[in-house]
Amino acid sequence: MQRFTSSAAVIDEPIIPPLQINYTKLLINGQFVDSASGKTFPTLDPRTGEVIAHVAEGDAEDINRAVSAARKAFDEGPWPRMTAYERSRIMLRFADLAEKHTQELAQLETWDNGKPYEQALTAELPLFVRLFHYYAGWADKIHGLTVPADGPHHVQVLHEPIGVAGQIIPWNFPLLMLAWKVGPALACGNTIVLKSAEQTPLTALYVAKLFQEAGLPDGVLNVVSGYGSTAGAALASHMDVDKLAFTGSTNTGKVVLELAARSNLKPVTLELGGKSPFIVCDDADVDHAVELAHFALFFNQGQCCCAGSRTYVHERIYDEFVDKAKARALGRTVGDPFKNGIEQGPQIDLKQFEKVLRYIKSGIDSDATLECGGDRFGSKGYFVQPTVFSNVKDDMLIAQDEIFGPVQSILKFKDVDKVIKRANATRYGLAAGVFTTNIDKANTISRGLKAGTVWINCYDIFDAAIPFGGYKMSGIGREKGVYSLNNYLQVKSVISPLKNPAWL
Ligand code: NAI
Ligand code: MG
Repeated sequence: MQRFTSSAAVIDEPIIPPLQINYTKLLINGQFVDSASGKTFPTLDPRTGEVIAHVAEGDAEDINRAVSAARKAFDEGPWPRMTAYERSRIMLRFADLAEKHTQELAQLETWDNGKPYEQALTAELPLFVRLFHYYAGWADKIHGLTVPADGPHHVQVLHEPIGVAGQIIPWNFPLLMLAWKVGPALACGNTIVLKSAEQTPLTALYVAKLFQEAGLPDGVLNVVSGYGSTAGAALASHMDVDKLAFTGSTNTGKVVLELAARSNLKPVTLELGGKSPFIVCDDADVDHAVELAHFALFFNQGQCCCAGSRTYVHERIYDEFVDKAKARALGRTVGDPFKNGIEQGPQIDLKQFEKVLRYIKSGIDSDATLECGGDRFGSKGYFVQPTVFSNVKDDMLIAQDEIFGPVQSILKFKDVDKVIKRANATRYGLAAGVFTTNIDKANTISRGLKAGTVWINCYDIFDAAIPFGGYKMSGIGREKGVYSLNNYLQVKSVISPLKNPAWL
């Protein structure tokens, strides 16, 4: 196989962030505690595969304890009973503390996850803080309705917190996924048991500590670290959890939905995988489209649920686009994510690293043209070379499955109507990108696509107020914005007779 080299040097000695790991226990009822079994599990540094810290390993008994604490805090504690303004103040205090500790949080995130520190600091952390400011702002603006009835009745529709929320998050954006779930749940007055991903348990525990400092009452936010098939499954199937929110793979999404259905039929929101099309029309600004197609796919080591992983390019500009996309990928800086100027760090773990390399092999075997990359980067840790395939066909595995790695697939199209059909011919429907300077084409394509988000001449624009979620097997429900509040509210209709029908 032809070898290509990327511009950054391999890391020899990884930089150690100036940070102590202080929080490795489970947070249950306001106390950092060992797991019931006393077991721990290692969380690894993806740059080397070495252990960063041993973390308490929660299992079913710890989930039971955390759910009991959350139940008590909901049924008897101050959180759902205090004024919404007081809740809002505590959330704002937390957001301000997170802002103050933004460097430590970003360092911890990079260390545990492998993402470039600069990106964690300048992209993920500001969004994280903004999310809590945003939902703190909602806390005292959640109100019900009065509705007209056909008879002499006064009808109030009350919006109440739903109760104990179970939340299971993945490892690709540990802080953001926490914020998307914890923010709206707290704003509505719920209590929470959060299960972090086993690859990245550290930032959730640090966040829990900051919430304590901000004055969140005990038991309102409980954090249980541990594995999916044990702690995660126990949370999804718990009889005393009133609502479940999950982000992760489509396969695990099906499992948790079934666990929820078989236990107490708790409502479930799912934010799952994607195979998002990125469509570049022949009238697009090619250089801009190349840069954003590169960003759409390679950002976060390609580990984004909404990665633009099927780059459809009009045949008239196809060759130029491929040449430029290849040059951009070859120029991508890969290396120690703590170093300045590094665009790409390692994949999260050995399992993902091997999975990405398997998909690359499948691309080569299926006769897509390997333009660059195609192998591991360096000899240590889980780094993968930025990889570009051209001449990719819709039926190839690399055009169908979510690779979740730095592998760009460039496909050719001729006709707008047909590319909409091809873009929609997937089990997923999370996001899409459209590049054109023609407003009619932009409208036609964006309305034709079956996707929860369509970015036109931009990509990965995230905002606390913009709802996000998927069509088809990319999920159920929406997170962020006002839409997320509905996930955490019960609706109660209260009807009473009107004594004076004259005022009906
Ligand atoms: P996963 O979906 O298995 O893990 C996500 C979360 O679910 C983790 O907290 C995990 O502990 C938990 N979990 C796993 N099994 C569970 C179970 N039986 N019951 C309850 N919770 C459970 O994803 P994984 O294995 O880390 O990655 C596999 C693939 O999933 C990736 O290659 C990628 O394609 C996709 N993925 C998508 C994400 C997204 O943002 N939509 C995030 C992470 C992974
Ligand atoms: Mg880790």
